[in-house]
Amino acid sequence: MAAKSKDPDQKIESLREKIRHHERLYYVLDQPEISDADFDKLMQQVKDLEAEHPDLITADSPTQRVGGKPREGFVKIAHSSPMLSLDNTYSEEELRDWERRVHELSGRRDVDYVCELKLDGMSLALIYEDGKLVRGITRGDGSIGEDVTLNVRTVRSVPLSVPKEKLKKAGIPPDFEVRGELLMPLAAFKRMNEERERKGLSLFANPRNATAGTVRQLESRVTAERRLDYFSYMLLKNGRTYFDRHSKTLDALDAAGFKVNQSRKLVHNIDEAWTFIRQWEEKRESLPYEIDGIVIKVDRTALQDELGFTGKAPRWAIAYKYAARAGITKLEDIRVQVGRTGKLTPVAMLAPVLIGGTTVRNATLHNMDEIGRLGVKIGDWVQVERGGDVIPKVAKVIEDKDHPRGTRTFEMPEKCPVCGTKVVRTEGEVDYRCVNANCPAKLRETILHFASRGVMNIDGMGDALVNQLTERGLVKNVADLYKLTKADFLSLERMGDKSAQNILDEIANSKKLPLERVIYGLGIRMVGERTAQFLSEHFGSMEALESAGIEELQSVNEVGPRIAESIVEFFGIAANRKLIGRLREAGLTLTGQKKQRGSKLAGKTFVLTGTLVHFTRDEAKQMIEDAGGKVTGSVSKKTDYVVAGADAGSKLDKAKELGVKVIDEKGMKGIL
Ligand code: IVH
Repeated sequence: MAAKSKDPDQKIESLREKIRHHERLYYVLDQPEISDADFDKLMQQVKDLEAEHPDLITADSPTQRVGGKPREGFVKIAHSSPMLSLDNTYSEEELRDWERRVHELSGRRDVDYVCELKLDGMSLALIYEDGKLVRGITRGDGSIGEDVTLNVRTVRSVPLSVPKEKLKKAGIPPDFEVRGELLMPLAAFKRMNEERERKGLSLFANPRNATAGTVRQLESRVTAERRLDYFSYMLLKNGRTYFDRHSKTLDALDAAGFKVNQSRKLVHNIDEAWTFIRQWEEKRESLPYEIDGIVIKVDRTALQDELGFTGKAPRWAIAYKYAARAGITKLEDIRVQVGRTGKLTPVAMLAPVLIGGTTVRNATLHNMDEIGRLGVKIGDWVQVERGGDVIPKVAKVIEDKDHPRGTRTFEMPEKCPVCGTKVVRTEGEVDYRCVNANCPAKLRETILHFASRGVMNIDGMGDALVNQLTERGLVKNVADLYKLTKADFLSLERMGDKSAQNILDEIANSKKLPLERVIYGLGIRMVGERTAQFLSEHFGSMEALESAGIEELQSVNEVGPRIAESIVEFFGIAANRKLIGRLREAGLTLTGQKKQRGSKLAGKTFVLTGTLVHFTRDEAKQMIEDAGGKVTGSVSKKTDYVVAGADAGSKLDKAKELGVKVIDEKGMKGIL
């Protein structure tokens, strides 16, 4: 612990150093030495000190990983040299052809190669100046990418700065560029999709799509929650490879504290590379992330330069791609599953088939459009693929003389298979849904959503408890939560007097939460946190919202025809109206403060920067939003005004560069 007598500057820096050390142990080396709680304590100390001494906040402080401010689109940035892709091979023969070409073009046969895992994410460039991360850029079209710095900063395995001595020791200059792969580990992917399912959002098909979607998030807070990982595999200086061997590059990156994949190997010919490929074909099942092949790179930079590249891929590297793990089996039936939002998903029931070591019994068919695209019928033989996807999927129908076609066409049921309510398909939408709020299939997920931290914040109401409550019929809808007694809880497994009282207190406390949370908690399709807030401000009561028509709903900020329709549909169902009545009886907060947002600044976007004197940032933001304007975190061409306080830095420069209007606090008051 830093001694009390140290000045805050030193104290903060020594704490930051500790945090960086433990971050590296945890995120890069996978060998934590302290508990998460102790780590959080260190972080809190820095946060506290920074709150006391805002002037000591630096861009590379570990606290600055989490941004949180929504931003407009992303700024385009040119790469220092093209970000190339790789040519693919699918067989040993093709691989040996490639080796032959390398031999011919270079005129030598003693070529060393480095074998690396081909990580299934997206490539990303990191620009460091004076050892500090200044920019993270997506590949884009290879020549021009997007500036995703704020999101990249939230990735723990990306060093925000590298100490000078460390760079020196590793032989890396202070200004350099790292390229590597950004990816979402399978566990994070699974967790994210489960949460999205609960929230009624569409699911990402695989970790690669999820990575791309996450790094292009406008809110870096969201990126931070999703736990992306980054492996480095290139080091450039002025757009050119820096070391004379690729193997040295990887070792140097490693030494400087970058996360470099440890499953790499320097080999002396393609026979050895082939052995590496074969080994990983099996072993890849046990990796915590997806790989789709092996990359083989010529080790010597001089030789790489000699070989050059064709089109978009280097001649000095090649990807060997593994075949998708697939199997052929009979589709015996198609059943329908109901999710929290009532979405009906057709699921293929398969004759059990072993794919990549796992027995697969069912596979998703996503929706009716997908069934149409595949042309699949019950009784067909199908090819099933298992990728990084959560659930295996039906890839195609097999049509040949050994595999006769099925005959039964699947149709979406007209009634929910669980509760029997008529199923609805909104015009222009792919999915069919059950709109009964009391449908038991939706119940479990609905309650978990209602009780979650961002909604009614009922701490302790997790999976296990909700399972018991719903299975025993103690809770049939969210209103039942407020009827539960201590005796009810004590009748459950693993529930003592103290825990029972705690959860009862939590439930009671939730009644005080504002109207917007209750609206959000109802799980009305397409009504997220922000929309719920606008609805609450506009209507001021659940009663007014319940009886609102499409037109009035559409006059609410950010509510379009589809959301309006979804709300009307929800309140059109008697069971839902009854539920609200019971929440009212239970004493939840169903009225709120009406708030008229002005229209004076409607459509205008502001960026606040520097130190404001007359009001805090939050106050200024509130004033702008009250007048209908929007406040974002970074300056782009779409910004209308930059409000610059004292010591405004890069955002002010950016505004000037883009010709965005800059005003001071007085100017802002004037506009308001
Ligand atoms: S090297 C010129 N190494 O695969 C060198 N790429 O299909 C190009 N990838 O765009 C990249 N793992 O996103 C390299 N160990 C690895 C890789 C890797 C995954 C990705 C990368 C690239 C794509 C090409």
